[in-house]
Amino acid sequence: MLEVKNLGLTLKGDEGEIQVLKDMNFKLEDKKIYVMTGPNGGGKSALSKAIMGIYQSTSGQILLNGEDITNKTIYERARMGIGYAFQQPARFKGIKVRELLEIASDKNKVPEMCDLLYDVGLCAQDYLEREINTSFSGGEVKRIEIATILARDLKLAIFDEPEAGIDLWSMQRLTETFVKMNEKYNTTILIISHQERILNLADEVIMVADGTVSEITTREKVLGEIRQIDSDCRCRQSCNKGGKAIADCDR
Ligand SMILES: Nc1ncnc2c1ncn2[C@@H]1O[C@H](COP(=O)(O)OP(=O)(O)OP(=O)(O)O)[C@@H](O)[C@H]1O
Ligand SMILES: [Mg+2]
Repeated sequence: MLEVKNLGLTLKGDEGEIQVLKDMNFKLEDKKIYVMTGPNGGGKSALSKAIMGIYQSTSGQILLNGEDITNKTIYERARMGIGYAFQQPARFKGIKVRELLEIASDKNKVPEMCDLLYDVGLCAQDYLEREINTSFSGGEVKRIEIATILARDLKLAIFDEPEAGIDLWSMQRLTETFVKMNEKYNTTILIISHQERILNLADEVIMVADGTVSEITTREKVLGEIRQIDSDCRCRQSCNKGGKAIADCDR
């Protein structure tokens, strides 16, 4: 459904131009859940913004269901069914949560909006008529932003580190919501995440490093690698604590 071909992106930094993305190639298929992960600064958010049209790519192509959208604006891409929840959402100060959900979607009946807030773990009675201001915590703003994406009937929904600032209880609910969105609305979902709970949802994992796709792999492989690093570190830690040599570890 989405094809990224030889995509490149150059941005202006403080010390001149930086090549943020280079020669990126991958395809997303209909109705699958993808998790994108990789080292900090690798280019995951920049890629999402290039897909959404927030950054205009400098080379290559982006196709949505065969149609070239490379030169389309953010609004056109939104109308075509792409949605992006920012890693660090903006605070739309001065409007109520209900008003923001009304602007974001056609689900503007109160019961529908209540369901959306429950899906991101917020109690609708407490939030619907609340004005968005500085009294909102980072996690609350993040969850409201995610609700605005869930509210839309999207072909491709991109969530940039949805776990950031979200407590464990709400995270459980949110992972169920992603699965529900994928199954009920046939939305292809791309989640950028570093979290095991999210990696567990992935049909495929896209590894991004140094501005390019380094590997497209299975969740089992990535989770196996993470566990290996974890156990290596534990070994080293216990050796150091006990004042013994690393060779004394039982592995
Ligand atoms: N607006 C910008 N102007 C200049 N450089 C940018 C801009 N946005 C991102 N970059 C640079 O592009 C690179 C990739 O950044 P990006 O935010 O995409 O990384 P990321 O993979 O999302 O990292 P993280 O896991 O920390 O969120 C970084 O080196 C960053 O400094
Ligand atoms: Mg990022």
